[in-house]
Amino acid sequence: MTFTQCQQARFSVRRYSPQPVDPALLQEVLQAGRRSPTACNKQPQRVLVLQSKEATDKAAKAANIHGGPCVLVVCADRTQAWVRPYDGMNSAVIDATIVTDQMMMAATERGLSSLWICHFNPDILREELEIPHEWLPVNLLVLGYAAEGVQADPDRFENNRLPLSDTCFFR
Ligand SMILES: Cc1cc2nc3c(=O)[nH]c(=O)nc-3n(C[C@H](O)[C@H](O)[C@H](O)COP(=O)(O)O)c2cc1C
Repeated sequence: MTFTQCQQARFSVRRYSPQPVDPALLQEVLQAGRRSPTACNKQPQRVLVLQSKEATDKAAKAANIHGGPCVLVVCADRTQAWVRPYDGMNSAVIDATIVTDQMMMAATERGLSSLWICHFNPDILREELEIPHEWLPVNLLVLGYAAEGVQADPDRFENNRLPLSDTCFFR
């Protein structure tokens, strides 16, 4: 699968079958995250892997995970991230987001469905999962297999994306 085919195959899945994610595939997805670039190669990402019902139920208290059987809680340790000297910008959120994106695309390449979630209550997530104070929960990535009948809208890129003229500006 080329990168473009992978982009075309991916869509947000909000209904999952209960089938657990194949452990070998999960390892490959996590390895893809490990290979991700991060600012100054600091690798501040800290990924909690939730697979048991007990653990995913905890995540479900903080967000709608749509019944996904596996949730990656992608955090970033702000104390370990690169800081831009000019203005103090901390790259933790950028790094965690690159890792999330690369894992999502690796999951797509392997036939897994996914959903990226930022609409979560960080306080509840922290408490339920005992997330260390210095880790910032940035993204949830639900992984699993789409429930029967769930399909992507084939016209979504034509209809649901802005034209380049709205988002790209040549100077
Ligand atoms: C940073 C980010 C945050 C998102 N947060 C949520 C979320 O909290 N809940 C949700 O259902 N979808 C969430 N999404 C999914 C987007 O709504 C979705 O990617 C977008 O509408 C495009 O649809 P598609 O993924 O099917 O192409 C998020 C996506 C991104 C990239």
